[in-house]
Amino acid sequence: MTISASKLNKPEVVEVYTQTALIYDVWGSLTETKARQRALAFAKIKNGEAILEVAVGTGLTFLEILKANPDGENIGIDLTPAMLEKALLKASRSGTTGYKLTIGDAYALEFPAQHFDLLMNSYMFDLLPEKDFPVVLSEFKRVLKPGGRLVLVNMTRAEKLYQKIWEGVYHLNPRWLGGCRGVLLLNHLQTAGFKNIKRAMLSQFGFPSEIISATL
Ligand SMILES: C[S@@+](CC[C@H](N)C(=O)[O-])C[C@H]1O[C@@H](n2cnc3c(N)ncnc32)[C@H](O)[C@@H]1O
Repeated sequence: MTISASKLNKPEVVEVYTQTALIYDVWGSLTETKARQRALAFAKIKNGEAILEVAVGTGLTFLEILKANPDGENIGIDLTPAMLEKALLKASRSGTTGYKLTIGDAYALEFPAQHFDLLMNSYMFDLLPEKDFPVVLSEFKRVLKPGGRLVLVNMTRAEKLYQKIWEGVYHLNPRWLGGCRGVLLLNHLQTAGFKNIKRAMLSQFGFPSEIISATL
């Protein structure tokens, strides 16, 4: 199955998510809650771990990470300041202080090699050009400890006819879907050398998500 071309460059991603930040959580609760919960189940967080969430967005997953890892190191990065502001607000109300939320780019992580036990990333690869997947996955590998865990969630290719409506929306105007189109990560993870790869696919409101966990 081929993956459609990505349509937004980095400045356009920031522009779209600056406009979307205010209402993103409504979209997230309609279409992404189940996948987010499954990803957290895949992550098997143990309190005290070093955890990085890349593309933390408004902090919907990050808040759950903080609850599960109050005594650990919790770092979230994102390209879009407006999304990060929302995440900061959620984190400040969480009662946990062991976190850092900062601007950062998945293509060039400003962290030392082999630092994190777990890296989580949701609904970001579906914005990126497929040719860049290996670049970003190699950054993810670099910052994970040996044996470290990676958990990804993405909009994926529709398997049922009714799920194809979202691909249709993307083709009409990619910005209406925040630039997200269905992608498939499994082969890329295998090529990048990840092991113990597990994939689940589920849909909410007809929006198809894949949840993948893997280890180094
Ligand atoms: C669809 S939202 C998902 C947000 C969050 N992960 C979630 O699941 O709710 C995509 C997010 O990816 C961020 N993003 C896109 N490209 C990025 C990059 N290269 N580095 C870091 N964040 C990026 C955007 O700024 C936006 O906040």
